[in-house]
Amino acid sequence: MAGNTSCATRDRRRIWIADLGLAALLAAACGQTPRAAPVVVAAATAARAEAPLPATVPAPRDDGRLPPGVRPRSYALDLTVDPTLPTFGGRARIAVTLDGPTRAIVMHGRALAVRTALVTSAGVSQPARAWPRLAAHDRGEPDELALTFDQLAGPGPAVIDIEYQAPFSPGLDGVYRVEEGGAPYAFTQFEPTDARRAFPCFDEPGWKTPFSLTLTVPRGLEAFANSKLARRADSADGHTTFTFEPTPPLPTYLVAFAVGTFDVRDGPRAPAPIRLVAARGKGDLGALSIDAAAAHLTLLGQYFDRPYPYSKLDLVAVPNFGAGAMENAGFITFREELLLLDPAHASTASRRAMASVIAHELAHQWFGDLVTMAWWDDVWLNEAFANWMADKIVDQWRPESRARVKAIGDKAQVMAEDALASARRIRNPVRSSGEAEEAFDGITYGKGRAVLNMIEAWLGEDTFRDGLRRYIKAHEWGNASAPDLYKALADASGVREVAAVMDSFTEQTGVPLISASLRCQPARDAAGTTAVIAFTEREYRTLDRAGPSEKTWRIPLCAAFPVAGHLQRRCMLMDGAQAEMALPGAGCPAFFYPNAGETGYYRFQLAPADARRLANGLNQLSEQERFGVVNNSWASVWSGELPAASFLELLRGFRNEDSRLVWGQIAESLAELDRAAITDGARPAFAAYVRDLLGPLGRRLGFTAKAGETDDQKILRDAVMDALGNLGDDGWVLSQARRATDAWLADAASTDADIARLAVPLAARHGDAALYDRLLAVARSPKTPELRVVALRGLAAFEDPAQVARTLELVASGGIKTQDLRYTFVPLATRRSTQNATIAWIEGNYARLAAAVPDPQRARFMGVAGALCDRERVQSVAAFLRPRIEALEGADKSIRQSIEQGLRCAMLREKEAPATTQWLAQHRL
Ligand code: BES
Ligand code: ZN
Repeated sequence: MAGNTSCATRDRRRIWIADLGLAALLAAACGQTPRAAPVVVAAATAARAEAPLPATVPAPRDDGRLPPGVRPRSYALDLTVDPTLPTFGGRARIAVTLDGPTRAIVMHGRALAVRTALVTSAGVSQPARAWPRLAAHDRGEPDELALTFDQLAGPGPAVIDIEYQAPFSPGLDGVYRVEEGGAPYAFTQFEPTDARRAFPCFDEPGWKTPFSLTLTVPRGLEAFANSKLARRADSADGHTTFTFEPTPPLPTYLVAFAVGTFDVRDGPRAPAPIRLVAARGKGDLGALSIDAAAAHLTLLGQYFDRPYPYSKLDLVAVPNFGAGAMENAGFITFREELLLLDPAHASTASRRAMASVIAHELAHQWFGDLVTMAWWDDVWLNEAFANWMADKIVDQWRPESRARVKAIGDKAQVMAEDALASARRIRNPVRSSGEAEEAFDGITYGKGRAVLNMIEAWLGEDTFRDGLRRYIKAHEWGNASAPDLYKALADASGVREVAAVMDSFTEQTGVPLISASLRCQPARDAAGTTAVIAFTEREYRTLDRAGPSEKTWRIPLCAAFPVAGHLQRRCMLMDGAQAEMALPGAGCPAFFYPNAGETGYYRFQLAPADARRLANGLNQLSEQERFGVVNNSWASVWSGELPAASFLELLRGFRNEDSRLVWGQIAESLAELDRAAITDGARPAFAAYVRDLLGPLGRRLGFTAKAGETDDQKILRDAVMDALGNLGDDGWVLSQARRATDAWLADAASTDADIARLAVPLAARHGDAALYDRLLAVARSPKTPELRVVALRGLAAFEDPAQVARTLELVASGGIKTQDLRYTFVPLATRRSTQNATIAWIEGNYARLAAAVPDPQRARFMGVAGALCDRERVQSVAAFLRPRIEALEGADKSIRQSIEQGLRCAMLREKEAPATTQWLAQHRL
């Protein structure tokens, strides 16, 4: 697709000036002849971009919304899509209601060349001129399309009728082309604001209307969309027209279609007809996904007490896809590796990912599709809920998944993001396309889920579910905002404080830090209370952010403590800077844990005596709580309160630990510590420490899969071997990895798929050109999508500079699909061992790199700085990249946060590196 990219990106402004001649212009530029001559209606033309906009057009609004006064009622879209051509186009007829008489209508449109526009109201049709114009906070390309006409139209119903052409997008959003197995395809990705590249529209989530879609494609290609096919008809000129049933009310961002040659596999017909749609030749890899989707659909219907809202469900595997998956109503799109699994050889890891992403997108069919957020500032209602719900459904479907255990680990990650001065709030104003894109971040997904988990634990599972049912029922087919959800939860629970608690976590950034201490005294009341936990609250701050904070939270706070050998749980609402919790009937407990089950979104600190008592009670805690001990300690290293060396000492107390959650956190902390506090000179001693801590467990687990192993055991092995190989330079692990990789390359089916995933990148670390060649051959013609990903991850794991350069050259020459940059370019640019070489290469080859990477991906290049840990390096990378990407949509937040992250790490390094080096030398093993 690299050749098409340069065609389609060619100076977009010229497209506008070309008014009627777009198709010819683009076709000439791309060396092709347009299929059909443009239909020209003399009176109606696209306006010239340079001409001043008539005064009848309302000014762009600062809040990024369209001017009021025009309400869409339904769309009829009649598009001709030929993925062998550089453009597509057609006709959009939009029924609207005009609130008053007007000579202008402002809608959305992006890079659309309007050929004719007509506005009809009260039986009168008149031509309109179309004016692309910048929205208030647009970067570069105009997002709005103003129509102007001579006679007043409205009030009342009207129809906007627009014929247009548009270029296929160069990236993976809007309507874009993919070539797979030599065959042409077109796919769509509209969320958040790219429907406007596909057709003129009122591209805001608050407008939900039926869509009637007709797709005309070259004969031999098939078309699929949100709703069932109503009819298909071949035409004399070599085309086939697919007419789809009108959809129920949808926002524009959920409209989707696909064109190409597909394998289609039918699944169960109930609770809805399920189909799998994959590029030709890949349909047989869909069986596991169909099963999971059918099971999840039933469980979700039961949870919401409301059946699946749409008439069918297509699961669509897209051969080049930017996100992981997208919840288009009735037509869910996925990247292939999440949907197409080899039933005989798929790894447990890919089965887990598949189940969780399907559950997530299916949850959206209720949460997001049936009930849609009124505006992008509430996109967390979609994403946090889908995440939270997916864990619950996956655990119901396959309890050994223990997806909710993984969510606890993810909470720890997002707390680090939330502690940045530049963190986003869960609810944040969105005034532009760029800000809408930025809203899909760890805060929305991860903090949102963690807060929901906290509220659910506080209100109780059944009450919480009842609240959600009320919410869905009250707003189905329509829109809702966060306060509507709070109301439903308050109504269901009778708890008045729901909104206040939620607001304190959604309307401000940051992580609360609870200090807790236990006081025992002689019995003083009838209940025999002897024990009281005293809590105080402040903001958790990392060491780079000294200084007072005014923030307070309302926190559902739960403590766990042993009574007669069993852990008990007690909760209260902490509403203010201080609180006390009495523990009646508990005597004076041997210890307490201030975040029972780790369900709370807060961190804690204990008085030294309480910390010692807790350390002695470790084996009575749940794995979530033992995880919390490690994570909270590691957080105190970041806040400057616990020396890294003391943390290393503390970890030695976890040798007998068996939980994958706890070891996962240990491995994660050690990897962060490696980046932040281990100098090159201290590395051998650090590696020895890691081997000492993890080696015995690693040998016990072994580098081969055992029959009947649980998910937990596999996940545990993954974390332990990865740490031993990468941080511990463990010779045994590295040689086992090489052995497994050779066996896998000789015959992929001979090696357990989870072992292969683990082994290949470890083997590649010290691999040579010959190994690189063999992995590249797999990546070029993989038998399954999972094998592609394993091979690509392998290519990116080489440390040999010559092989690093080969992968970077592949990126720059367009030899890596955009969707695969996450497996190749990102690891090279962020991993400590290859980062410097990669940065030097980026600086030397920027023009080629930028040409190979579409805008949305390029906007996140600054992530490189976030993975650095050195003041000067952060600043010099930022100085290079910032001017090159800051004009891109959606780049602002990533620039701010990456720089802050890099500098935060540098500060920890300055504080901790010398002392850690010394400790490691003294404790040399
Ligand atoms: N709605 C999103 C896809 C999306 C992401 C659209 C960003 C526009 C911008 C979808 O529901 C989603 O969240 N997908 C996740 C997978 C999920 C399992 C967390 C993704 O793509 O990573
Ligand atoms: Zn989602």
